[in-house]
Amino acid sequence: MEIGEVLVRASSSSIPLHHGNPVPSHFHVHLPKASSFPLSSENRIFILGIGFVAQSLALKLQNHGWVVSGTCTSHVKKKKLEGMGFQVCLFDANYPQPSMRSLLKDCTHLLVSIPPVAGIGDPMLQHEELLRSSLVDGNLQWLCYLSSTSVYGDCGSELVDEDYPTNPKSESAKLRLASEEGWSNLAHHLGFSPQVFRLGGIYGPGRSAINTILKQEPLSEGQKMRKYRKYTSRVHVDDICQALMSAIYTTPPREVYNIVDDDPAPREEVFEYARKMVLKKWPDLNLEHLELEESSGAKTRNQRGEKRVSNTRMKKELGVQLLYPDYRSGLQSIIDQIENPFFHCS
Ligand SMILES: NC(=O)c1ccc[n+]([C@@H]2O[C@H](COP(=O)([O-])OP(=O)(O)OC[C@H]3O[C@@H](n4cnc5c(N)ncnc54)[C@H](OP(=O)(O)O)[C@@H]3O)[C@@H](O)[C@H]2O)c1
Repeated sequence: MEIGEVLVRASSSSIPLHHGNPVPSHFHVHLPKASSFPLSSENRIFILGIGFVAQSLALKLQNHGWVVSGTCTSHVKKKKLEGMGFQVCLFDANYPQPSMRSLLKDCTHLLVSIPPVAGIGDPMLQHEELLRSSLVDGNLQWLCYLSSTSVYGDCGSELVDEDYPTNPKSESAKLRLASEEGWSNLAHHLGFSPQVFRLGGIYGPGRSAINTILKQEPLSEGQKMRKYRKYTSRVHVDDICQALMSAIYTTPPREVYNIVDDDPAPREEVFEYARKMVLKKWPDLNLEHLELEESSGAKTRNQRGEKRVSNTRMKKELGVQLLYPDYRSGLQSIIDQIENPFFHCS
């Protein structure tokens, strides 16, 4: 299925379309193809942080005639994104460009994809006055904050749905929760409900266990710490985009959604599977030196597992049918797209 034809399927109740048209139960809503989608000032998204997920969404929306603008942090990337047809401002956490104000004022949709920064918090919310004054008389009707399942903290292998109490332990998870609250408050101040998407570990073409192995990179400290977790939720970038498209085109009944796949498999298992896939496709590749060193204490610290994150609400209320319900199907599609292991996407 093309993402452009987002399939919205209500399992028990109807999912209302954004402008009030109800979608009957078990009814598939196919969004119009690019050519038939009207280009209008109603469809303008501003993306704070056009990163991995946001860029994928931006391309899909652009194909449907949306005007896409947003931010990044370097001149090189700005040029690349402008080449893709997006309007881009550089956004340094401390000095937002003045042009951001007019782009913000014009946008109908706002996606926040910049993570919080240690010692600062949310880089954009520290300019809350600029935000409020730009948005208050503007056109904004939808705001989504991309968060993380880290806000739940360590739940000792319990099944965690969106009503499970948040209990962030790490500094970054505490900042993440504060950002959720800040963006949520802003949306309510502007008169509508936000979406908060709590994402599992994100992977997709160019960013996966396959790519780490092909690059023959050692694991980062964070990856080593996660290596021995019993459960690690993850989600393919295309499935995040499905959920975002659904949230844009329908009116989800709730604000917070976990966005994860069905299989919170341990990271170690995923890497072992990826390694076998790589060796099957390229038997001559030498991966012997790729022994992944563990961080001292990582094994004991993470052995009891953290949490199993539930995606029931995402499926039921956003109508998402996962394209990649587990890492096996996700990794298969990634490796299938790589012709030459030395020129894979990075
Ligand atoms: N990676 C995961 O597994 C994971 C899991 C759960 C949640 N998340 C969160 O979900 C969101 C989307 O993830 P992603 O992987 O698509 O993110 P990503 O590729 O890392 O993109 C983040 C974007 O934010 C911009 N940015 C970063 N720090 C900034 C700062 N201090 N000031 C201004 N802009 C800044 C980056 O600018 P440049 O484009 O110039 O780099 C980039 O455009 C992020 O908030 C991420 O932290 C990630």
